[in-house]
Amino acid sequence: MFKVINANPFESNQECMLIGLFEQPEKFTGQLLELDDRFGGELTELVKSGDISAKSKSISVIHGLGKSGIKRFVFIGLGREKDLTFDALREAFGRVCKKLDDFRIRTLSTALDTFVTDQVSPNDAAHALSESYILATYIFSGYKQKSNEPEIDIESFEVFTNADSDEVSAALQVGSAHGEGTNSARTLVNTPGNMLTATDMAEYAKKLAQSYNFEIEILEKAEMEKLGMGAILAVNKGSAEPPYMIVLKYQGKDEWKDVIGLVGKGVTFDTGGYSLKPKDGIVGMKMDMGGAAAVLGAMEIIGKLRPEQNVVAVIPATDNMVSGEAFKPDDVITSFSGKTIEVLNTDAEGRLVLADAITYAKQHGAEFLVDVATLTGGVIIALGLDKTGALTNNEALFEEVLEASYEAGEFIWRLPYTEKDKERVRSSKIADLNNSPGREGHAIMGGAFIGEFAEDTPWVHLDIAGTATVKSSHDLGPEGATGVMVRTLALFVERFGQGEQ
Ligand code: BES
Ligand code: MN
Ligand code: ZN
Repeated sequence: MFKVINANPFESNQECMLIGLFEQPEKFTGQLLELDDRFGGELTELVKSGDISAKSKSISVIHGLGKSGIKRFVFIGLGREKDLTFDALREAFGRVCKKLDDFRIRTLSTALDTFVTDQVSPNDAAHALSESYILATYIFSGYKQKSNEPEIDIESFEVFTNADSDEVSAALQVGSAHGEGTNSARTLVNTPGNMLTATDMAEYAKKLAQSYNFEIEILEKAEMEKLGMGAILAVNKGSAEPPYMIVLKYQGKDEWKDVIGLVGKGVTFDTGGYSLKPKDGIVGMKMDMGGAAAVLGAMEIIGKLRPEQNVVAVIPATDNMVSGEAFKPDDVITSFSGKTIEVLNTDAEGRLVLADAITYAKQHGAEFLVDVATLTGGVIIALGLDKTGALTNNEALFEEVLEASYEAGEFIWRLPYTEKDKERVRSSKIADLNNSPGREGHAIMGGAFIGEFAEDTPWVHLDIAGTATVKSSHDLGPEGATGVMVRTLALFVERFGQGEQ
């Protein structure tokens, strides 16, 4: 869809041309100068009169009215040149892309160089452009008889630049991959529990493996029983749907070493089990596989961009239901690792399924672990709805995840994790661990429980209970699933180990 063209954008015929404008340029240069020249100083006049604003994130539409081959000039205010960040650019692009529906256009174009600064390279601008276009125009079609698909589809997006066209094309591809992987995760999270069971998730993973040539292993219930995966099996006991342990392997190095394990909570619906959620708390729990979706979205990006890394993705998939066979508070179960767990709360099921998944990831050679999970309501109380909570047993690994999160524009905040926390998850009188040591600091407790299974393997835990969905639409997408951590995970994998060398 994206085409790079090394030519003067204003000599062409276009339906809609996106142009970046900084506040108070001393004089126009580059593509803006070409524009001003072509229209006899009119740009200078329009900026002076205030008809075109350069204020950050403002959008000014100027019609060519037949005087130009370009039908609409859409100026995107970027504020002061030195203040523009990659993040801000992404949001500015996102905001304008969301408005495009109103224009009823089939083609788009941009004068890319007008977005470039000392800090934001042409490649950065290209990456931000394709990524935000794809994120901002995402919709979940849903199931209405009259669907809410957009009436107009953009067929081509021409990117005019004086920079190296191969490099800019490659950056557009990277941005597209990041956007598409995120959108795939959004769709998985938005899909209701009856339409995305563990079986459906396994089917989805199989298709992904086919498309990107991943090795795949899907453990069925009988195999899990044989292996002794008592924690995920306990969570699944009340369900009519079979559980699956889904494993995807991507080998980007000659040898299977330095393996990164990505583990995502795949609870397709969380009723709470016998520790039943109140009726208002159950609504929305189709999103409880947001961690799995983040891992699958990141694997899609990895499959497209094929970094020189080794990755094993492990997804424990089941729902958490009630029935005569369901597990109960007070039950003691034996996890795959051998550690026994006293179940004090069947609603603390995420840490149980993750326990077995983490152990399995290690068996598959994972030497570094990142788990992602909609794990606790506690993280929302602690950090609000816009920050992902983190816990780690390894500073260096956490630094790498944090760096990736900055680049992705996804906020992470680390919670403390001390020996006292470890003592609390080990405080059961009759088992090695207990799955719910009380509400105090319970986002930390959830992570600390998972840490018992990571053991000495460097590990970062990401609790996305607050960030996996949003209540209202934003510059880079609609309300509902955000696809949070897809890009952080993908960037983390792409850049892994580069910091130390
Ligand atoms: N899936 C929930 C966490 C959650 C809550 C996600 C709200 C999104 C929004 C998780 O399984 C859960 O129920 N956690 C409990 C743990 C508690 C029982 C220790 C919680 O946070 O209340
Ligand atoms: Mn729960
Ligand atoms: Zn849950």
